Amino acid sequence: MNARIDTTRVGIVGAGPAGLMLSHLLAKAGIDNIVVEKRDRGTIANTHRAGILEHGSVRLLTDSGVDGRVLTEGHRHDGIDLRFAGESHRIDFADLIGESVWLYPQNEVFVDLADARERDGGDVRYSVTDTEVLDQTTDTPKIRFTDVDGTAVEIHCDILVGADGSQSVCRRSIPEQVRTDNFVEYPFAWFGILTEAPPSAPELIYANSEHGFALISQRSDTVQRMYFQCDPGTDASVWTEDQIWEELQKRVDGPDGFQLKRGRIFEQMVLPFRSYVCEPMRYGNLFLAGDAGHTVPPTGAKGLNLALADVRVLFEAIDSFYATKSPELLDGYSDTALARVWRAQNFSYWMTNMLHTRADANPFERKRALGELASVTSSRYGRQYLAEGYTGWPHS
Ligand code: PHB
Repeated sequence: MNARIDTTRVGIVGAGPAGLMLSHLLAKAGIDNIVVEKRDRGTIANTHRAGILEHGSVRLLTDSGVDGRVLTEGHRHDGIDLRFAGESHRIDFADLIGESVWLYPQNEVFVDLADARERDGGDVRYSVTDTEVLDQTTDTPKIRFTDVDGTAVEIHCDILVGADGSQSVCRRSIPEQVRTDNFVEYPFAWFGILTEAPPSAPELIYANSEHGFALISQRSDTVQRMYFQCDPGTDASVWTEDQIWEELQKRVDGPDGFQLKRGRIFEQMVLPFRSYVCEPMRYGNLFLAGDAGHTVPPTGAKGLNLALADVRVLFEAIDSFYATKSPELLDGYSDTALARVWRAQNFSYWMTNMLHTRADANPFERKRALGELASVTSSRYGRQYLAEGYTGWPHS
């Protein structure tokens, strides 16, 4: 069967925040692009991911005219609490480094970007199947897929972008001899819930305890997001509400008598956990962005922020390529993006190991971890180091 051929400058696989943000920036610069996505719009809008945006991510969304909803409906957070040995220690971002983060869930970022692409007449094709990429090392790389109506389509472009998430088809199209998969696994996962309850505290609480880690996050005045460290093999569906609340409460208990505000739990799931980086993030005219190129454990809330940071660098490289005909910035994309990726990998790995408790930890390891938490929280330099990484290093 002959495929219909559509031609564009930049072909983007994946309509998550990375793919749509890139598409939006390119369109604003007058660079034609097409996005293809295997999921439908409603499924992506209902996929719950992390909820913290660095100040640089917020600026990228608002400065590029996506939508100001992040500022009106998101909540600015000027700090977090690190809680260990039953006591809370505030990391005051505003005082330490004069920056903040915004609590604004990733699915809302997606909704804003999808609406902006629709408003601006963007070409985004949801619900496609059988996506493949080919001819990545030629001047006309291609995306082949079946569209929602069953038509076979081939997109011919100059530049191919893989923004198709951690299970990336684009990444897997790179021959194994020319890519290095760097990863570490962790002996734990996160049990995540959404609950109908008021916030338990004004800011997020990252809690370390002998029973394991817990994160008390938020969504709104009436819905909260919480997580606790669990075994990767855990079946979330067999846990009762009482068991979940007991497990969470145990991890934040302390002499101050802090109590979580409980409510009906309407979603419970186990999130996998690993650190991964693909090097390089390029193969010929195929460029990887976001989770397609790297995965971080959720502890530092870096996943979405890192994806948007990649997109900023990649957009500038593509824009410069069309403006000057020089591939210099495109040639530098992988190294430039990876420099930030490895800093974020370090931050996420550090936060994860510092805050979680391994099931087989011996008393030495347990007390060493408390020594590390005390060192970080008792020193202004320590708190500043954490605040800088958490709120996000400046974009170059
Ligand atoms: C969330 O609210 O989902 C969230 C917040 C902070 C994290 C991870 C997840 O570090």
